[in-house]
Amino acid sequence: FDRQSGIIARYREFLPVTDKTPLVSLHEGNTPLIHAANLSKKLGVELYVKYEGLNPTGSFKDRGMVMAVAKAVEEGSKTIMCASTGNTSAAAAAYAARSGLRCIVLIPSGNIALGKLAQAIAYGAEVIAIDGNFDEALNIVRDITAKEPITLVNSVNPYRIEGQKTAAFEVCDALADAPDILAIPVGNAGNITAYWKGFKEYKEAGKSSRLPHMYGFQAAGAAPLVLGQPVPNPETIATAIRIGNPASKDGALHAISESNGLVDSVTDDEILQAYQLLAKEEGVFCEPASAASLAGIIKLHRANKLPQGVKVACVLTGNGLKDPNIALKLVGEEPRSVPATHEAVMELVRQSGRE
Ligand code: F0G
Repeated sequence: FDRQSGIIARYREFLPVTDKTPLVSLHEGNTPLIHAANLSKKLGVELYVKYEGLNPTGSFKDRGMVMAVAKAVEEGSKTIMCASTGNTSAAAAAYAARSGLRCIVLIPSGNIALGKLAQAIAYGAEVIAIDGNFDEALNIVRDITAKEPITLVNSVNPYRIEGQKTAAFEVCDALADAPDILAIPVGNAGNITAYWKGFKEYKEAGKSSRLPHMYGFQAAGAAPLVLGQPVPNPETIATAIRIGNPASKDGALHAISESNGLVDSVTDDEILQAYQLLAKEEGVFCEPASAASLAGIIKLHRANKLPQGVKVACVLTGNGLKDPNIALKLVGEEPRSVPATHEAVMELVRQSGRE
């Protein structure tokens, strides 16, 4: 077992780790902060993307889940449970498998990306689809875990926030200080809460000298923080953030006001444009919800509200491979087939070159 790997071993001085906390790890964290040179030019800023899709289950959730599962094991729990739009369930299932825990996940029926469902099933979780949305699933899970000997591993579990704050440490280390702006998609609002906590703790520890402005972006059809009230029937193509009543609303609003930041919404079209730009101009494939961070920055730029020349870090929360159907639907056509000959292939290559 490599004790230096994973966020618990690496950041234990910042985490609620005791002698009895098992050093659970799938080598999560240590994800790249990639400079987006082409988009930087277009937007007049120094743009970086924190590519959380390179975590072991393909999303930032691994950082929080490893901590929550380690503490569940430490506390003698045998079962964990969560509601999820997909990524939390994948992470919970993986770390539960590794730690010998039973894992039960509730998902909104028909509204989770295929890859995420495949992961939860492959890792051996008990997957229950409810005829309802994420908010309803979370209410049920909170209710059950309050009464049964089952550990809740949604981000209302404080250990989730503790683990996820380590991403802010890594952003500061990569840039040798905090960026001017940290842009992030907001769903249940745990991650923006975690980043802000991380930035503040790193500065207090003398590891960075300043704090970023926190810019949170929600999908327009699921934007309770922008509207100032819950959305009973949230809708967006970005199913990961299809959430109408964020559990960590207060944490998000605090991060935004204390950092002198903002919260705004982006339409599905804006999300999908940003999603394609990242893939086609930077070679970075994230899932649609993740692109909300860049979509928000582009929206501000178009409105002349993006300060120029500043350092912007966009959090790309999950991997594009989670949701292959969206990419295929956007392109709108199957690969063209031709006979298996040099001539047929070259004819098509010449033809597409002219198009
Ligand atoms: N991006 C992705 C890819 C997500 O999966 C989520 C949340 C978010 C952004 C928003 O983060 O909730 O901390 O504000 N996914 C949760 C899940 C809800 O169940 O996987 P948040």
